[in-house]
Parts: sequence; C-alpha cells; structure tokens
Amino acid sequence: ERTRVAIVGAGPAGLLLSHLLAEAGIESIVLDRRTREEIESTVRAGILEQGTVEILDTVPGSRARTVGHRHDGIEFRFAGEGHRIDFPSHVGRSVWLYPQHEALTDLIAARLAAGQDLRFGVTADRVDDVDTATPRVFCTAADGTRFEIAADFVVGADGSRSVVRTAVTGSHTGGSFREYPFAWFGILCEAPPSSEELIYSNSPDGFALISQRSDTVQRMYFQCDPDTDVDAYSEAQLWDTLQARVPGTTLREGPIFQRDVLRFRSFVAHELRHGRAALVGDAAHTVPPTGAKGMNLAVADVILLNDALQGLLLRGDEAPIDAYAEAALRRIWKAQHFSWWMTSMLHASPDASEFDRLRQLGELRSVVESDAGQRYLAEAYTGWPLQRTL
Ligand code: DHB
Repeated sequence: ERTRVAIVGAGPAGLLLSHLLAEAGIESIVLDRRTREEIESTVRAGILEQGTVEILDTVPGSRARTVGHRHDGIEFRFAGEGHRIDFPSHVGRSVWLYPQHEALTDLIAARLAAGQDLRFGVTADRVDDVDTATPRVFCTAADGTRFEIAADFVVGADGSRSVVRTAVTGSHTGGSFREYPFAWFGILCEAPPSSEELIYSNSPDGFALISQRSDTVQRMYFQCDPDTDVDAYSEAQLWDTLQARVPGTTLREGPIFQRDVLRFRSFVAHELRHGRAALVGDAAHTVPPTGAKGMNLAVADVILLNDALQGLLLRGDEAPIDAYAEAALRRIWKAQHFSWWMTSMLHASPDASEFDRLRQLGELRSVVESDAGQRYLAEAYTGWPLQRTL
C-alpha cells in the first residue's frame, strides 16, 4: 500500500495532524494498535490551552468551545491561604476545561466523517528505510495478516511506548529523563463542583488538585506513593485524604466511579526527526501531569510538523523539516521546565528538610505576591503563543 504520510497512533496528535494535512490536500493513513473503544475510554487531563482550542475550532463538529468551560484563573492554596491567579488581566488569554478524551472523540468522529483512512487494531511492528525517499511501516492487522505501508514520510504519534522512536533515535529509550518520588491518586466522582476554579493545594500531608469534568462529574487528585495500590483506600478514606489536603474548602462528595494511580516522569527524546520520520507528542516527550501540558504540547508539535510537511511534500522545500526538531524543542523544554517547576513547587518531597519546606513556601509566596510571578504563571499555564513556520 502507498500513502503520502503514514501516521502511527490515533491519539490527539495523530488525528489532528491527519486533519491539518487533509486541509492542505495531503493524504494520509492513520493506524493504531488499540480499538476505537479503548482509545476513547482512556482517562486524560481536562485543561486545553487557548491555542489548542483555537486549532480544534478548525475541526468540524469540535465541541471544545461550546461544551467546554472557559477558566480565567486558578487558585494556589498553601499555609492556610488561598491565592487566585487571574489569566486574562495578565496575558489576555484563558484555558478551557474540556475533557481531553472528549476532544479525542470529536476528532475521531470528524476524521471518519471526512473519509480519513483510519485503522484501529493495527500494530506497527517496525519502521524501515527512513533514510530513503520511501520509508516503510511494517504492520500486523487484528486478524494477524501482515502488510506494509510505503509513504513519503512516517510520523510517530504512538505515545510513550513508541515503535517509530526506534527508527528516529536509533534506540527505544534514547533521551533525557528523570523520575519523581511520588505519583497522583486520581478519582472521578459524581458530584457538583466543589469550587468554581481549579485548586492546586500544597499541604503538609502532600499535594492535592481539585479539578472538574462537567457540572455533574468531578476529577480530583492527591499526591501518593508511586507503589500505591488503587484498591488500598475505601471511599471514605479517599474523601478524608482529599479533604485534609484542601483546608478551607468543603468538598462536595459523591460516588467515586473511577480511580487510577498516575506515575510521574519527565522525558525528551534525543532526536525528534531522522530522514523521512519524525516524532510528535508522547512519543517525543513525557511531562509530569502538574499543569496539564501533555496534550497541549502534542498539539504544538503537530502544528509545527504540519507546516514542515507541507513545505516538504507540496513544495519540495527541505528547510522547514530540517528546522522542525529545533523549533519543537524550544517549546518542549519550556513546557518541561514549567511542569517540573509546578510539580516541585507544589508537592511534598519525602526527603525534604525543614529548610526545603520553608524555602518552598517562600517560592510559592514569590509567585502569588508578585505581579511578575503571577504573569509568568499565567503565560505558561495558558500556553505560549504558537510559532508557525509557514
Ligand atoms: C487536570 C490535570 C492536570 O494535570 C492539571 O494540571 C489540571 C487539570 C485534570 O485532569 O482535570
């Protein structure tokens, strides 16, 4: 089989790229090892940067702006005090609370309606010939049939366990990374929101985040040990733990219908592009969840790669694809820093000394009591303006 762009991975990055390429008249095949149901039921974060919403607005039927809610600020809570950080007054931008799996559901529906060649249950086993003008993806279909796709370019949008990464970096793991000595225990519950805006709370017992999904479903997290068993807590214990970490707010409780433990990692692949293959999204990098940068960063990669592929495939211009990795890495490392900073500023480190804890409160005060501090936070949280190279 032959296509112009073979996209491995039908997550937000791969699907959005197929949409942007199609708008420019570039045909693609998108494949994913998972079923449509598995993809649509993956639990993700809930915050979209303004730039992410603006690009999703170009996807027919996208409900991010209509069903999602605009959020103009967040609250930082520590030492018994609450501090709101307003976004529009500092940077003239906002974020949208719209569950990312809903954004994904919108994208799948839009691509199928547009006639996109989108194949679920197809595993990419290996990518080869990326140093030639016709890279190939060797695949296995759900029924075990093997076949190959020859393309002008192969894109790895296949997540943190990327297969395409091996063809780009020469190794599965080649990159810079760090781990963290904690994780998040996440719950979904049926209840009304406990507060109008998200609360990021640093408490002596550890961090908690009070987020939302809709008027009737809420998402909350608390810092836990990475080895925590999801069934180790009763529902009452979960509420007690969460409530103790947000003094000053009475949480509105309701049945908890989903629980998970999220591990924290930071990772950036050493190479994002080699010959006729490139990586976007989690295949290229992982951020810890604090600040909700994961999907937003994937979207920013896709916008840059789309511009670069249009240059290469429509005009035979190699300059934008040669510049892709460097352009993407500028934003990736800013987002890596922001995610690391939010994480380290808000969490209780198991081996923190008294000095470390008091310094951390000084750091939080430096942000919330300073116009410049609040502005930096608002700028990074709402997302740096996207640079186009076209
Ligand atoms: C959510 C997750 C985040 O990591 C964050 O910073 C904000 C919100 C969420 O799942 O709603």
